Amino acid sequence: MESFSGQQVALITGCSQGGMGHALALSFADKGFLVVATTRSLRSMADLEDDRRFFLQVLDVGSEESVNKVVSNVVEKYGRIDVVLNNAGVQCIGPLAEIPLSALQRTFDTNVYGSMRLIHAVVPHMVLRRKGKIVNVGSVTALAPGPWAGVYTASKAALHSLSDSLRVELKPFGIDVITVVPGAVRSNIGNSALASYNQMPEWKLYKDFADVIRERATRSQGPNSISSEEFAKKTVAAILKKNPPAWFTLGQYSTVFAILYHLPLFVRDFLMRKAMKC
Ligand SMILES: NC(=O)c1ccc[n+]([C@@H]2O[C@H](COP(=O)([O-])OP(=O)(O)OC[C@H]3O[C@@H](n4cnc5c(N)ncnc54)[C@H](OP(=O)(O)O)[C@@H]3O)[C@@H](O)[C@H]2O)c1
Repeated sequence: MESFSGQQVALITGCSQGGMGHALALSFADKGFLVVATTRSLRSMADLEDDRRFFLQVLDVGSEESVNKVVSNVVEKYGRIDVVLNNAGVQCIGPLAEIPLSALQRTFDTNVYGSMRLIHAVVPHMVLRRKGKIVNVGSVTALAPGPWAGVYTASKAALHSLSDSLRVELKPFGIDVITVVPGAVRSNIGNSALASYNQMPEWKLYKDFADVIRERATRSQGPNSISSEEFAKKTVAAILKKNPPAWFTLGQYSTVFAILYHLPLFVRDFLMRKAMKC
């Protein structure tokens, strides 16, 4: 094991340049952490290659083997993992009645099971040190699920729910669980969502809604969304508090969705139908 003079270690998934994971990685490094920055392909974080604050690893959250390999590499190298950030995630756009089940499975496999794979791999190490922070990145959309992104929203609602149970279950072992709930943040998510939307079959029942459905893919990327850098800076500050919040939300629409959550369903449905033209 190499000696790193007690420096704390953060492991982050989905660190491709231009996204929130990459900005979070830089913010943790700025706070003095050794950052295990991971993505499915090293090319997407090539800019971090020569920076000694980072240990770059290929990690696909869809593969238990890949997750376990990275976690053992980190434990072998540093002997500790202080913070784990389940940031990797995919959007999934389409009307629920027609969306292929395979798209639903892929989304849950990344956003929900992917996070659980990493949690299963790191918790035993954190328990040994009776210390650690697990951060799950959800979404404000899960507070008021609307049309066209129902699969994604359901996956994030599942992650919020898992975080709530985990937070209580892991407390006896000294592990904090934090749900980070972004509003709209500028990243690659719009382009990635469009790329997977382009693989969808042509809608039959929803032909007339095709334009508004497609627009939903990039809705978080408007001019009022906040930058990934601002998001990362404030999120890292919240995570590093001695007593971190159980729930941390930030970004465009975060207040709107907090209000929508409390509205009667008939009012929420009315507003959603207006906003999403259905
Ligand atoms: N941006 C927003 O407005 C917003 C709002 C609410 C929640 N979020 C959540 O914030 C998180 C970060 O998203 P982002 O906006 O930064 O989007 P992004 O720029 O598209 O980044 C997503 C990251 O996840 C990675 N990823 C996808 N599937 C993966 C897999 N199987 N294994 C490992 N990595 C995988 C992507 O890798 P590739 O580059 O290889 O695709 C990319 O690095 C996600 O969980 C997202 O749902 C974002």
